Amino acid sequence: MRVLSGVQPSGTLHVGNYFGAIRQFVRLQEENECFFFLADLHALTTVQDPPRFRELITDLATGYLALGLDPARSVVYRQSDLPEVTELSWYLSTVTSMGLLQRCHSFKDKVAQGVVPSHGLFAYPVLMAADILIVKSDLVPVGKDQKQHLEVTRDVAASFHATYGEEVFVLPEPMILDDVAVVPGVDGRKMSKSYGNTIEIFGPEKPIRKKIMGIVTDSTPVEAPKPTEDNALYHLLKIFAPNPEEKAWVETAFAEGGVGYGDMKKRLFDYYLQTFGASRARYDELRGDPAEVERILRAGADTARETAAPLMDEVRKAVGIH
Ligand code: TYM
Repeated sequence: MRVLSGVQPSGTLHVGNYFGAIRQFVRLQEENECFFFLADLHALTTVQDPPRFRELITDLATGYLALGLDPARSVVYRQSDLPEVTELSWYLSTVTSMGLLQRCHSFKDKVAQGVVPSHGLFAYPVLMAADILIVKSDLVPVGKDQKQHLEVTRDVAASFHATYGEEVFVLPEPMILDDVAVVPGVDGRKMSKSYGNTIEIFGPEKPIRKKIMGIVTDSTPVEAPKPTEDNALYHLLKIFAPNPEEKAWVETAFAEGGVGYGDMKKRLFDYYLQTFGASRARYDELRGDPAEVERILRAGADTARETAAPLMDEVRKAVGIH
């Protein structure tokens, strides 16, 4: 199958990005033809500080590689190095109704959080549809917050087919895993850069430990059983627990009581280090070799452009250009 997904370089990579998306990328590349990109054009809807932006792009590319994306197996590239994607986005926007975009939660949420409602932010899902359709992806691994954007992608592709009477696109399926569809942040809401409730994957250990120790919990006494519903600590422990024995330990600790929230948070921090220790070391190494990271992105862009070329020919022909 052909798999594609992307992450915006709009902030530091966090645990929600990993479990909701990147862990699936790493697994899927074993047996599929994979395209993973940095959605830098999308990030311009919120990051408009060029030096910071460049840094975020390098950090994300380094993070992808450190977490296990393998350029020998996956095409890893930067969205802006595939300029055909903006061309396709325009063709798609001419068959996309305003109403479809007006219904998008993510646009409404971002505006509610104070992001300027620019045309780019409004048209965001059309550019995302172009990302996905341009390489004829079958499967798109994402967290639940992207589900509606996948529906929009399918609608836009179908609208193009209906308008031009030619089936040029593959309608993609989302891949959203139930247990990690919405990874909670330290305050119990969805972990998100815009809520300031993230646990970062890279960066100094001390502030990360502090964030984990600061996960919001209730006042259930040490000896009592603990509630699991809407309990961010419980969900994070379940997601991080590295093996069935540890998962069972978490269940027992909550069901039987006797373990305080403080000790549980310490254990979560241990799981965190077990999960990310090797990637964190690899990240520090790669950070010293930005030229190699850049080389990988450029090689990835060459392959992505080659892959996109035949589809772009079909699309141009379908609309009557050339
Ligand atoms: P972004 O950059 O916000 O997030 C990257 C991926 O991480 C997932 N994610 C989560 N999953 C579970 N729980 C969470 N708390 C959590 N937070 C983030 C997201 O669902 C996403 O899969 N629009 C996309 C980027 C994009 C894209 C694409 C994705 C642009 N074009 C084409 C797939 C295909 C976004 O903003 O992701």
